[in-house]
Amino acid sequence: MSRAAIIGGGVIGGGWAARFLLNGWDVAVFDPDPEAARKIGEVLDNARASLPAIYDRPLPPEGSLSFCDSIADAVTGADWVQESVSERLELKHRVYDEIAKSLSDGVFIASSTSGFKASDLAAKGALVVVVHPFNPVYLLPLLEISGAPGLCKKAAEVATSIGMHPLILKTEIDAFIGNRFQEAVWREALWMLKDGIATTEEIDDAIRMGFGLRWAQMGLFETYRIAGGEAGMKSYIEQFGPSLHWPWTKLTDVPDLDAALIARISDQSDAQSGHLTIRELERLRDDNLVAILRALRHSGSGAGGVVTTHETGLATGGEIDGLPVTLRRVVPVTWTDYNGHMNEAAYLELGTWATDGLMQLIGADAAYVASGKSFFTVDTRIRYLDEVHRGEALTVTTLVLEGAGKKMKLFHRVLKADGTICATIETLLLHTDLTTRRACAPEAPVAGALAHLAMAHADFPAEGAGGSVGHRS
Ligand SMILES: NC(=O)c1ccc[n+]([C@@H]2O[C@H](COP(=O)([O-])OP(=O)(O)OC[C@H]3O[C@@H](n4cnc5c(N)ncnc54)[C@H](O)[C@@H]3O)[C@@H](O)[C@H]2O)c1
Repeated sequence: MSRAAIIGGGVIGGGWAARFLLNGWDVAVFDPDPEAARKIGEVLDNARASLPAIYDRPLPPEGSLSFCDSIADAVTGADWVQESVSERLELKHRVYDEIAKSLSDGVFIASSTSGFKASDLAAKGALVVVVHPFNPVYLLPLLEISGAPGLCKKAAEVATSIGMHPLILKTEIDAFIGNRFQEAVWREALWMLKDGIATTEEIDDAIRMGFGLRWAQMGLFETYRIAGGEAGMKSYIEQFGPSLHWPWTKLTDVPDLDAALIARISDQSDAQSGHLTIRELERLRDDNLVAILRALRHSGSGAGGVVTTHETGLATGGEIDGLPVTLRRVVPVTWTDYNGHMNEAAYLELGTWATDGLMQLIGADAAYVASGKSFFTVDTRIRYLDEVHRGEALTVTTLVLEGAGKKMKLFHRVLKADGTICATIETLLLHTDLTTRRACAPEAPVAGALAHLAMAHADFPAEGAGGSVGHRS
């Protein structure tokens, strides 16, 4: 168990407290704001519901959180001191004087500063390193580290141990790498707003619907490497030469894109990504984008909302062998596992959405659910009959085995493109009143449509239905 002192518990200090606590560190906070404990408690609640959800293994047991009345109390005995007070140099210097009085041997001050250089911070003699995070600290892994090399190395080790990505800066610069980028984009955005070229929403859309999605998973240079295709990075970058002098941007102080700079970019790109062909990089990019876009669908944010809106206009339904088609899906990479085939849980997900498709068909749609009635699943049996891989197109047909009273028993067949059945999913649902959470009969139109299908399907074969996994004798 290690102990971190968090000096300044605002937006960033709260995020740091959560990151350390959820990685098993004890945390002592000092912040004169009387609201600090409430604010950090709320940040911690959000962090508890999100950071562990990224992992497939449990994080260490949570450390203990305490609030101290002085910097000395928080810092005494700490193995790590993270300063996150407001971005004012004179305040930071004052706080460092106070911290220095209680620092244990071998411990230095890590500053969250967004822009002051380590030498600015250390100007009055403090042992301080820039350890610059991004908000929310408990989820975003990047830490820009700058200062004395020995201290940076130690900071990087701690960063890695709490699941972060240390980026040690070779050269001291104002604002570091991330904020220098963001500042360039920000300045362009301000010009576009001022010149009436784009609104705030249009600027945000330009980022989140397009290149922002690519940057999230491959950054700038790997993305350009792919854009260069088989012609290669060098010839692609050479094309940028003239455009650097076109009026594309207000950032007019541009470097000479001469042979030496092109060679540097090309060589570094080869070292970074040359182990993968362009096709392999494209597949990796596409898999990442599918995973990101599917995640964004959930909230409808940005590009996720574009997908769901488009989807509502896409045709569904149809029939195969007299049975309704309740789902058509192409297997996303996120459904596959380390065996390279579709994970067993994804078969259940297919069943879930096929049941949803059947519910739409009988009128138990979103409006019906909003009116306070739905079907709840009480039993499911899946037979896994064949392997399925990334990118395969699957079709699900649904036979109504029973549809009377509160009960709806369905038999889904999952078909591959060649018509072979790769799974059957038999499921029993009970019609439920969403207010009382008790089973009840469906409304007449839904009950009628369900009974009609059950009668129509009564003589259809249903091989594999009705069995069970087995029970203890
Ligand atoms: N907000 C961001 O997105 C972001 C990102 C990365 C880094 N940073 C950096 O993190 C630091 C903190 O920024 P923030 O956004 O959390 O600001 P904030 O205003 O949310 O928090 C600053 C906290 O410092 C406290 N404070 C003031 N004087 C203090 C003192 N003498 N001792 C202890 N605490 C004191 C305040 O009460 C406040 O709670 C800044 O250096 C900032 O540049 C901010």
